[in-house]
Amino acid sequence: MSSPSDARLPILTPEIGKYIDDLSGPEEELLDRLEQHAEDREFPLIGRTSGRWLELLTRAIQGKRVFEFGSGFGFSAYFFAKAVGSNGTVIGSEFDQWELDDHKRLYGDHPFTNRIDIRKGSAFDILDSTTGDFDVALIDIEKVDYPKALEAALKRVRPGGLILADNVLWGGKTARQADPDDEGTAALQSFNQQLFNDPRIQTSILPTGDGLSVSLVLP
Ligand SMILES: C[S@@+](CC[C@H](N)C(=O)[O-])C[C@H]1O[C@@H](n2cnc3c(N)ncnc32)[C@H](O)[C@@H]1O
Repeated sequence: MSSPSDARLPILTPEIGKYIDDLSGPEEELLDRLEQHAEDREFPLIGRTSGRWLELLTRAIQGKRVFEFGSGFGFSAYFFAKAVGSNGTVIGSEFDQWELDDHKRLYGDHPFTNRIDIRKGSAFDILDSTTGDFDVALIDIEKVDYPKALEAALKRVRPGGLILADNVLWGGKTARQADPDDEGTAALQSFNQQLFNDPRIQTSILPTGDGLSVSLVLP
């Protein structure tokens, strides 16, 4: 799953995190409902502050078509749906049927259901089943699959588009020597190296949530 196996090391102090959230003001009730559901199920979300980054970055490039590797019940998709507007699309992917059911139930008849299409199955198969370019891709699946997801995203995100990935700091573990049996951390470290060394992209890491990488696909 996409949270560090040990206690998450907050990048910001709780006080500063709350300060930023308070400045950002309230969101609509749907978001509270999604967060409460995540808390009840101890489900790892990208978090509200990183979610706002997803929205802002997508708006900044006038993104209209987004692909999510790993959607859960649609928390990150909410921010993308806001950014793409009523003519945009967010195609998501999710292994677990219960999350798709929860997504439908929690969103009810919210207007964003017309923009969000979370499909059941492997993110890789679902991406392959689509045609055309995407403006933005978010990687938030099993950590061992991040390097493979980057290669897949690079084939489908347009030049000038963005590839984003959550958990790249992994509670601080990526900044330390990985335990020999910790495949998730080793995969993330290799992914981060790839992000910063691949000439097809330019990358930086936003120290928000559990670390959000932002890669611009170069022309
Ligand atoms: C951290 S959650 C996604 C959270 C979501 N991005 C959010 O913040 O609202 C990761 C999800 O990806 C799903 N998943 C993991 N690997 C996957 C894959 N290869 N294909 C599709 N879904 C996958 C898991 O079942 C899990 O629900």
